[in-house]
Amino acid sequence: MRRGLVAANWKMNGSRESITELLHGLRQSLDTGAGAQVLVCPPMPYLDLCSRLLQGSRISLGAQNAHEASSGAFTGETAPGMLLDFGVSHVILGHSERRQLFAETDVQVLAKCLAVQAQGMVPVLCVGETLQEREAGQAEAVVARQLDVVLEACELTKLVLAYEPVWAIGTGQTATPEQAQQMHAFIRQRVAVRSGAVAENICILYGGSVNADNAAQLFAQQDIDGGLVGGASLKPAEFIKICKSVSG
Ligand code: PGA
Repeated sequence: MRRGLVAANWKMNGSRESITELLHGLRQSLDTGAGAQVLVCPPMPYLDLCSRLLQGSRISLGAQNAHEASSGAFTGETAPGMLLDFGVSHVILGHSERRQLFAETDVQVLAKCLAVQAQGMVPVLCVGETLQEREAGQAEAVVARQLDVVLEACELTKLVLAYEPVWAIGTGQTATPEQAQQMHAFIRQRVAVRSGAVAENICILYGGSVNADNAAQLFAQQDIDGGLVGGASLKPAEFIKICKSVSG
C-alpha cells in the first residue's frame, strides 16, 4: 500500500508574515493525527524561516528547484547541499514553468535529479504535455520522453513523480479523473518496465488546478497517490481539506 503525499508548491508567493500565518494554520490541523505525508515548498529565501517554524512538525520541507552543480560561479542559483543545510527532504524538478520560462531541458533536469539524489534528497520530477501536444495525440510520447531520461539514470526508489498537464496548471481546467488516471497508469507502466516492485511503490502525484472540490475524486483513482498543489496550497482551509482527502 503506497503512502499518500500532498505537496504544496507556493511558487513565487508569500511574505514573512503570510508564510508564518499559513504554517501556523497548517500545523494546527495537520500535526494532529496521521494521514498522508505533507510537504511545503516555499520560495528559497523563506527556507530558513520555514525550517524553524516546522521544528517538531510532521510536515516536511521541500524546495522548488536546485542547481546541478555543488558550488561555483552560478549567480543567483542554489546548490543541493545548501537546501540540505535547511532540512529540505524533497526538491521539485522539471516543473513546466521552469521548462518553459527558463528553457530547462530533459538533460538538465536529469542532472539536477542526480545532484539532488547525491545529497540524499528526493526529487519530485514533474512531467506533462502542453495542450497543443495533447491535441496532436502526442501526450504519452512527450511524457515518456521526459520520464525515460530520468528513469534510466536515477535511483528509482528515491524518486517521486508528478504528472502535471501544462494546460491544467493555474488554469482552473483540471484533468478529469479518467484523463489523469489514464496517464498515471501509463507512467506506472513505464516504471514497471524497469522494476515491477518499484512501480508498485513509487508515488505518482497529480498536479494542475487541484482544489478542495476535485481532490477527493482525483485521489480516489487507482494510480493517483496524491497531489502537487499550487494556487490552492496558499489557502490554509482549502489545502488542509485537500490533504485530508488523501489516504495516509
Ligand atoms: P496549480 O499549480 O495547482 O495552481 O494549477 C500546480 C503546479 O504548478 O504545481
